[in-house]
Amino acid sequence: MSAVTYQGPNKVEVTKVPDAAIEKRDDIVVRMTSTAICGSDLHLYKGNFPLPHGYVIGHEPMGGGADAVIDCVGMDGKKTPLEYIEQKLKLQGGMLGPIQFSTKAVRKFGTVQLTGVYGGNYNLFPLGAFFSRNITLRMGQAPVIHYMPELFRKIMDGEFDPKAIVTHRLPLGEASHAYSIFNGREDNCIKVVLKP
Ligand SMILES: NC(=O)c1ccc[n+]([C@@H]2O[C@H](COP(=O)([O-])OP(=O)(O)OC[C@H]3O[C@@H](n4cnc5c(N)ncnc54)[C@H](O)[C@@H]3O)[C@@H](O)[C@H]2O)c1
Repeated sequence: MSAVTYQGPNKVEVTKVPDAAIEKRDDIVVRMTSTAICGSDLHLYKGNFPLPHGYVIGHEPMGGGADAVIDCVGMDGKKTPLEYIEQKLKLQGGMLGPIQFSTKAVRKFGTVQLTGVYGGNYNLFPLGAFFSRNITLRMGQAPVIHYMPELFRKIMDGEFDPKAIVTHRLPLGEASHAYSIFNGREDNCIKVVLKP
């Protein structure tokens, strides 16, 4: 990808730098469609700080927002202490972080899809942000029955092999162990198939 890089006092250059990549579990990579130059960038530009050549400068990216944001976290993601207490006190169904974040990450007239499961009632739901930005909010359990014929055809045609995600095949009698390793993400568990 291209980036504006520091090349000495009062000198910047657009150079190729490695593409942004997911480094931490809850990282996201977004495509920038615009970026602005901020006054504080000038401190770097003027060489007021010791910077290596090639250092990427600029911090006012504007992404107009994504056309669609898909929340795959749901109510059981990492909670703030307040969300944790509220959930324990049954004042809140779970966490809202990704939903609140999605209102900022999606573009005006964009779509937010809630695939992560949410149950119960929620305080501080960012309704105003959804409304003021004309966001379409979609949600629900995947209507798998509807997709099955197409998925079976793709499997039969060898377009993909669902076995690829099956990491554990266990007898039904080991269901308790199976749930424990799946829940704990132990033993590189991604998908368990239980055999009666
Ligand atoms: N709608 C459906 O049909 C459907 C289908 C399958 C799963 N789900 C739901 O999707 C959700 C995720 O399921 P999964 O199996 O992918 O779980 P997972 O644990 O594999 O993935 C959850 C991801 O969310 C991240 N995360 C946790 N807290 C976060 C936070 N506060 N902010 C940002 N990221 C955070 C985690 O790092 C992890 O990468 C669950 O609620 C599950 O029930 C819904």
